[in-house]
Amino acid sequence: MSKTLTSLFVEQLKLCDVKKGDLVGIISEYGKKNDYVDAVVAAAQALEANALVLTASSLSRPDLPPYDPTQGPDIPALLAAAANCDMVVDVTVEGLIHSDVRTRITGAGRRMLFVAEPPDVLRRLMSTPELRERVLAGVDILKRGRQIRATSPAGTDITADISGEDLPITPHMGFVADAGRWDHWPSGFIACFPRDRTAQGVIVLQPGDALIPWQRYVKDTVRIEVKDGFITRIEGDGFDAANLRAYFDAWSDRDVFATSHMGWGVHPTANWAAFEVYEPHRLYGQELRSVAGNFMWSTGSNRFANRYTPAHLDFPMRGCTVEVDDRTVVRDGQLLM
Ligand SMILES: [Fe+2]
Repeated sequence: MSKTLTSLFVEQLKLCDVKKGDLVGIISEYGKKNDYVDAVVAAAQALEANALVLTASSLSRPDLPPYDPTQGPDIPALLAAAANCDMVVDVTVEGLIHSDVRTRITGAGRRMLFVAEPPDVLRRLMSTPELRERVLAGVDILKRGRQIRATSPAGTDITADISGEDLPITPHMGFVADAGRWDHWPSGFIACFPRDRTAQGVIVLQPGDALIPWQRYVKDTVRIEVKDGFITRIEGDGFDAANLRAYFDAWSDRDVFATSHMGWGVHPTANWAAFEVYEPHRLYGQELRSVAGNFMWSTGSNRFANRYTPAHLDFPMRGCTVEVDDRTVVRDGQLLM
């Protein structure tokens, strides 16, 4: 167990307003990330809180088909226990981000934090009150908006309907202090789930854009057409277009072609070079998702549209301009807020 990791979790649990006597639940996968489990327990104890470790054997998700969507009998038991915790820390390998488990825990009013990155990334990207304010400013812009649009000199021009007071917006600020909130440490971006089947246009991936969870940079130009919220064509001369087509086709499920969340990064210390600096498959990719001035969109799972496919790709893109109605929030990859 790393003393550094424990001290980072102490700092984080303080940000999350964990108090003396609170019960902190820890959801983990059997035999995995035990150092994180130990660190959360030690941090809770340091704050005179209590810890309950919930370890299940059926939380893994596949990277490629076949996929068995049935849940094990441990899930209802896990949910029942989590409902009695003041806060839940998810240290599963892939996270319960898009799952029914997450929705049911936060729906019960519990706050939930997912943690996956290596300790150095957790330390460098620790949240601050300023980051929270910046994220909330982005939420306000999305709440008032009717349309999000992203464009780029390479030919990206995509729009989606974000109108309505009930638009699902997921502020990512890297900690959870309020009841019913979910977040991911570290984070610094704002995303929303546009009205289903309203995304229209073209996205042109360029070398240097990021492909998550493949955890690498795009190497070749890829032109992706989107109609009524679904990808209808993927074109490009290099392997990237061919591999994206192979990946999407493998699932034999139209839902994997759906567009999911859209938004932009605001974290001042998140760095585009992370996949070069670290061993990329030891990363979850949260740093690339958070780079200030990225445009990030995604495919596949979207719990707000009842799409629970495990296929979900995030594409943080450089050099784009992002507008919400007539407000430009990112211009040519530079954050303007
Ligand atoms: Fe995503």
